[in-house]
Amino acid sequence: MPPKTDFLSGNRRDPADCTRRINAAGDAAEGEVTDPGLIADLLKGCRFGTPLYYYNTTDSTNTRAKELAEGGCPDGTVVLANEQTAGRGRQGRRFYSPANSGIYLSAVVRPNNGWDPSLLTSMCAVAVARAIESVADVAVKIKWVNDLLINGGKVCGILTESGMRPETAGFEYFIIGIGINCGKREFPAELRGTATSIENECGKQIDRNLLAARVCRELESGLERLGSRVFLEESRRRSAVLGKTVTVVRNGVEFSALAVNIDNDGALLVRKENGELIRLNSGEVSIRV
Ligand code: BTN
Repeated sequence: MPPKTDFLSGNRRDPADCTRRINAAGDAAEGEVTDPGLIADLLKGCRFGTPLYYYNTTDSTNTRAKELAEGGCPDGTVVLANEQTAGRGRQGRRFYSPANSGIYLSAVVRPNNGWDPSLLTSMCAVAVARAIESVADVAVKIKWVNDLLINGGKVCGILTESGMRPETAGFEYFIIGIGINCGKREFPAELRGTATSIENECGKQIDRNLLAARVCRELESGLERLGSRVFLEESRRRSAVLGKTVTVVRNGVEFSALAVNIDNDGALLVRKENGELIRLNSGEVSIRV
């Protein structure tokens, strides 16, 4: 068992409840809980993880990360939780986040000039897919733009949020929120047809500490190459929607269309039955395969 540790972060102000919960988590049974000290060790030298905040339970790591970002935390700050009581998904949905079997991680990025934020979610999807495949013998597909699938079931959702700089109307920070269903699980009835977990699909327990660290490492290298857009090719290759007829919901209106490509800005191109080609941006639509 890795040494128990009170490690919280580098040198920043840390919320008091956060420290207390780290200690509580250190007493949990082996394999049942993420170990923030071990993750921090695995992240030495990485852009992400200093500081690293860990909660046994919180409402939403994205909400915590947003507060930290508003308070001036550095680029690379990571918030992790063992459980979320109000995990948030896209379009106001909830993200089911039970204790002891998932990774609920939010990372703060302060953007450099010269990269296009519209590509961020696509890049993150590729990064997390790679990280999952590095710890489990499974093939991970991307359901444009923010869901990762194994054998057609959703194992991960990504929610990127941003904060603006009022003086310049530019982006001050992004929160990359990643939820991964890891351990063996029964899902609530409403998710049973769509959700799964890595362990449900590959039959083996995976190391959540290692996976959390790999996610951060892949995000780091993905961000370095964001401007080159090379990941878009992998995004197309991993796509679970290209070549399929999908149901698009846009501004409350539903229509069927064939998903034909992901363009160089990460937008999904679909062709309606009448031949019309439509370019979809991630913020405005949801897709059903
Ligand atoms: C989706 O499926 O629509 C996106 C789900 C994103 C869930 C993650 S879990 C960590 C972070 N905190 C949240 O409240 N949401 C994201």
